[in-house]
Amino acid sequence: MSDQTTSSATEQDRVKIFDTTMRDGEQSPGASMTLDEKIQIGSLLDEMGVDIIEAGFPIASEGDFEAVREVARIVENASVCGLARAAFGDIERAAAALEVAKKPRIHTFIGTSPLHRKYQLDMNEEQVLEKIDATVRRARALCDDVQWSPMDATRTEPEYLVKVVDCAIKAGASTINIPDTVGYAVPGESAEIIAMLLEQVEGARGVTFSTHCHNDLGMATANSLAAVLAGARQVECTINGLGERAGNAALEEIVMALKVRNDRMPYQTGVISQHLMRASRLVSSVTGFAVQYNKAIVGQNAFAHESGIHQDGVLKNAETFEIMKPEDVGLSATNLVMGKHSGRHALKDKLKNLGFEVGDNQLNDVFVRFKALADRKKEIYDEDIVALMDDATTSAGHDRIKVKFLRVICGTEEPQSADLILEIDGVDHQKTANGDGPVDAAFNAIKALVPHAARLKLYQVSAVTQGTDAQAEVFVRLEEDGRIVTGQAANTDTLVASARAYVNALNKLLVRRGKSALTTDLDGAISA
Ligand code: KIV
Ligand code: ZN
Repeated sequence: MSDQTTSSATEQDRVKIFDTTMRDGEQSPGASMTLDEKIQIGSLLDEMGVDIIEAGFPIASEGDFEAVREVARIVENASVCGLARAAFGDIERAAAALEVAKKPRIHTFIGTSPLHRKYQLDMNEEQVLEKIDATVRRARALCDDVQWSPMDATRTEPEYLVKVVDCAIKAGASTINIPDTVGYAVPGESAEIIAMLLEQVEGARGVTFSTHCHNDLGMATANSLAAVLAGARQVECTINGLGERAGNAALEEIVMALKVRNDRMPYQTGVISQHLMRASRLVSSVTGFAVQYNKAIVGQNAFAHESGIHQDGVLKNAETFEIMKPEDVGLSATNLVMGKHSGRHALKDKLKNLGFEVGDNQLNDVFVRFKALADRKKEIYDEDIVALMDDATTSAGHDRIKVKFLRVICGTEEPQSADLILEIDGVDHQKTANGDGPVDAAFNAIKALVPHAARLKLYQVSAVTQGTDAQAEVFVRLEEDGRIVTGQAANTDTLVASARAYVNALNKLLVRRGKSALTTDLDGAISA
């Protein structure tokens, strides 16, 4: 392990967590987020103690620009970062989006590997160096905190990597991020690159080295930790490992690995690990990307013990088979069952236990939903309450379309049909439609009342708990002109959840289309 002699001991031990869920994470096909959702995620990341939040790529679209600006506006403690290619236009746009940030950071990058130089940039080594010098200087003129990345660093010739990093530092970058863009590196190599740069680049000791690993070979977390052991003091990661292709290093894995194995990796992050579960659920419900059951740290089975030997051991002493406590990642210690006699106070306590701080208004709203659920379902588990919260998060009070009534006829006799009333802008509209099965019938009724060209990209149902009275959680993803939105809803009635998830997606689509198109389309729908 190399030591950075110019830093104090405490700085030495501190690993900054750079979250890129809203930038690299959002680049996963289908994982798009609305402005409201980005604000929610941004404020949770800030509350969690993440050091830097990469909120988007401002030049990419108006939506991205606005998201970076609004996240920058609400974030109190973390630095907020905007991504920019090696182009003045990108850099200026990022600076404009970050104008209101308390701690702005511009992150600019360019491909440096032979493949990227030849096929992406059509530039030689000298030209790339000139571009780095000019763009990092431009970024520094607009922002004191500049991060620079050589894209595809792990496939860049080591001698050339030294040159480009040296150039970026001389031009004013204070964080040098080393991306394993295609998830090609192995841990020893990841460590060697950082150690080599720390040793060979003249100004290396005065900057922070960062690691950014993709998970194509399933080694993103291992590669990131190897880089930390070699001297990197910033890790770029995403909640649930969301990201391009196989994703990025998972934030929850990095944080918990550094915490649980502090004996081997004596470094601290500022992340409050008790918020990890909540962040995982929020990102999953916003994107519709379910967390696999056996996902490390935040998977449903991560703390479940099935075999008799394990259960027996855990009952006698949890440490026999548990290397961390469920409470440390924000799972409540006990999955206390609640029911229709549980009061508002018990619900507030339970929510707090699950990591949700709610104000009086939100508590009132969730309590009404909780009582309605308790009327239909005898025992309410933690997962039910989380689903209720997800539902409350995604279905905002200002939605223009609401499911008012749904009755479905289904079974062995055809046709299956759905009788639906939607409230659109405060006015009820009714339609009966047939379909190939009850879900199809309900969706056809929705399409008849709100005509649209959006294509259904995902319809996903899962049971929140066990038992035939379990709530169904439904995700619906729609795509229209490149805009992708994901709707979510939970209900003990799968058909009601399906219709509400579809309508939730439509409401988001209307917001994404922008105000003028929204009025025309919806007016057309109503008169149709
Ligand atoms: O993977 C990558 O190279 C990136 C860069 C933009 C840092 O995401
Ligand atoms: Zn990346």
